[in-house]
Amino acid sequence: MNPILKMENLTVCINGRIIIENINLVINRKEIVAIVGPNGGGKTTLIKTALGLIEPTEGKVEILGTTPKKAVKTGKIGYLPQNADIPRNFPFSVLDIVLLGLVRSKLSKEEKLEKAKKYLSYVGMEGFEDYPYSRLSGGQQQRVSIARVLVAEPEIIFLDEPSTGIDVVAQESFYDFLKKLRDKNGITIVMVSHDIGVVGKFVDKVAGLNRFLHYYGHPRDFFQKHILEKLYGTDVELIIHSPECVACEHFHVEFRKEDG
Ligand SMILES: Nc1ncnc2c1ncn2[C@@H]1O[C@H](COP(=O)(O)OP(=O)(O)OP(=O)(O)O)[C@@H](O)[C@H]1O
Ligand SMILES: [Mg+2]
Repeated sequence: MNPILKMENLTVCINGRIIIENINLVINRKEIVAIVGPNGGGKTTLIKTALGLIEPTEGKVEILGTTPKKAVKTGKIGYLPQNADIPRNFPFSVLDIVLLGLVRSKLSKEEKLEKAKKYLSYVGMEGFEDYPYSRLSGGQQQRVSIARVLVAEPEIIFLDEPSTGIDVVAQESFYDFLKKLRDKNGITIVMVSHDIGVVGKFVDKVAGLNRFLHYYGHPRDFFQKHILEKLYGTDVELIIHSPECVACEHFHVEFRKEDG
């Protein structure tokens, strides 16, 4: 075990309201962890606390062996925020956007260009280098944003709902891509997602967050009625196809919100 992120008894209050409470979790290097839970459950808050953007009210966070603020300065942490941080009509080329990820790098101009092109092809956007970013579709812009995060070659990346805007077919290949990235570059990936059925097939650990961390472990044991009810409430009906085969590719889960 080689921890890269540790949260101990972490509580965060915003304007006097408890948003996340008594969170204990350890993420090891090269793990892929999905944070799931309902809207307002505190997923983005948890990520921002790991990045030092929000101060814990109680407890502590250690990342890359130090405090979040010091760790962020090393450039070894990548972050893709939930809401696009680049305006959609940004008047630059795709390549320019990826190069933004290297502003703090000491590489030569040629090396930066080479790296930016490499990561664009990683995300399936080769050939779009000179294309105006503003003319890409939402999903394509999302891929370019991911290339911008990856190009700095961070050791850990936080992706807040990265598959938003990416179509269902592309989503599966997106998760495959994340796995390859982990295997090839040894990167640790923490992502927020609402596609719990899909995520369950791809990740090493699921963190089920709704103020409290109701579940943290292998996806295999996550899909249980009492856990899902704690997370999403009792008005959801869980449909599990082949529950004995949770981790295999035939596994499928969907939610049905009951009327009223
Ligand atoms: N800066 C802030 N000021 C006031 N309240 C906040 C702030 N940031 C978050 N909150 C509140 O904290 C709660 C958790 O928000 P958070 O964004 O962490 O949820 P989330 O799980 O990421 O939700 P979603 O799935 O909708 O992205 C919400 O009730 C939100 O209103
Ligand atoms: Mg969020």
